Amino acid sequence: MGLLLQTPPNVFHKGTDIKSIENTLFYIEIQLQRTRGISEKNGFDQEISYYPWNLTEKIEKEWCVKWIETVIKWSTKKLENDLEKLEYELFSQIVTLASNLLSELCGKAASNSNQVCIRMWDQNTDPIDIKIQEPSFGEADVGSKTWGSSVLLSRWVSRNSIDLSIYNNILELGSGTGLSSMAICRSISAPVNDKERKCFTITDYIPVLLESIKKSIDLNFSQQAIYKSTWSLNLFSKLDVYLKRFDWFAVNSFDSQSRVFSEIGAEHVEPPRANYFDVTYRTEGISSSHPELLELENTQHSFDLIVAADVLYEIEHAKIIPQVVDCLLLKRKKQPEAVNHGDISEQTNLQSSNNNITCSQNVPESYYPMFILVAPLRKTHWSEINTFESEMDKFGFSCIFSKDVTLSEDLEDWCTKLNKPLENLLETLPGNVDSESDNELYRIYYWKRK
Ligand SMILES: C[S@@+](CC[C@H](N)C(=O)[O-])C[C@H]1O[C@@H](n2cnc3c(N)ncnc32)[C@H](O)[C@@H]1O
Repeated sequence: MGLLLQTPPNVFHKGTDIKSIENTLFYIEIQLQRTRGISEKNGFDQEISYYPWNLTEKIEKEWCVKWIETVIKWSTKKLENDLEKLEYELFSQIVTLASNLLSELCGKAASNSNQVCIRMWDQNTDPIDIKIQEPSFGEADVGSKTWGSSVLLSRWVSRNSIDLSIYNNILELGSGTGLSSMAICRSISAPVNDKERKCFTITDYIPVLLESIKKSIDLNFSQQAIYKSTWSLNLFSKLDVYLKRFDWFAVNSFDSQSRVFSEIGAEHVEPPRANYFDVTYRTEGISSSHPELLELENTQHSFDLIVAADVLYEIEHAKIIPQVVDCLLLKRKKQPEAVNHGDISEQTNLQSSNNNITCSQNVPESYYPMFILVAPLRKTHWSEINTFESEMDKFGFSCIFSKDVTLSEDLEDWCTKLNKPLENLLETLPGNVDSESDNELYRIYYWKRK
């Protein structure tokens, strides 16, 4: 089927063909899917240019938004009339499609659930495409979007800048849509000569997100996943993956008798007011049985690697995350030797921070139970960063590596290190990938017990 439209159909024009409006909406949908890295055909012949719109151009996008608004107004008005059943259904479909497109065009956060495809590169710069099922904002709040911090964390994992082979029991906090989880699964499961069986526990406190992550596991590993139960599976006979509900504030009520904290006492941290109580108990609508809770009694001090991306957006998070890490990170060292900090000239003070924390600019090479965190350095959130750093210090952790970097700088630095032109990587990017967060600054930290 092919309809060549050079100008947008004027909906108020007498005799407007409703099919051409519907086709135009479908065409916009395809363009939006492409920007998300999805290039399925949807029954359209992609060779035909339906519209002069290029949605990455600001002016054309604004024009498109205005046109869709008119379509919604016009079709809503039509629905007020006495319509035949078929006509009624057609106009209702148009309103639904147009509204979904409008919310996606006006901001990802407002959009419906989406499948996105995000490109990573392995250590040889070969592309790895990770598919992610993002739930709607209504279902999962801030967790419905894949944030830049997890893009950075996933890139480091995918290219082995974070060597996962030395860890056996890995935990992710606040996994959200699960991009980092997918990158971790892929890296650990990659067929290398490693016979050791490893465990990876993916957590969030919103069950809908764990449902979406399960869908993403199916999208990326349908052939390799063997489910042991609804919420646990094995990948490549090598990695046991568990999806578990975990609310960081659960450490508040963790029996103080069984809780072995660092020397200092842990104070009770009230959860944030914003978006907490309304999502904590949002468990309705989960299709199968709920994912199990992460049992602190059984997992205390058991994980040798904990990772997290963008989990410090409220001051309460900055206070509770150090307690969570203290509670769950393994205590003993596997090998006694000290990490290579480089010489003193290679050490750096964390920038723009109140805390006088000095750490290395070299990625540590020795094994330590480690907490690796990526946090966006938002102008509005310095107090969260400062509080987090001083609380980590208070709970007996030292930062042994940290780097402030944007997504673009990260790629440039990596290509320079490999002596490869950056253009080669960028050319392989599918579609017009959203580069909104490319120039935002992120801090990647490695923390270990002092
Ligand atoms: C900004 S999102 C980041 C998500 C993901 N890591 C990423 O970078 O795309 C923060 C995540 O933390 C989760 N979260 C917020 N408060 C939490 C809590 N009290 N316990 C567990 N997870 C929480 C949210 O559900 C959300 O998935």
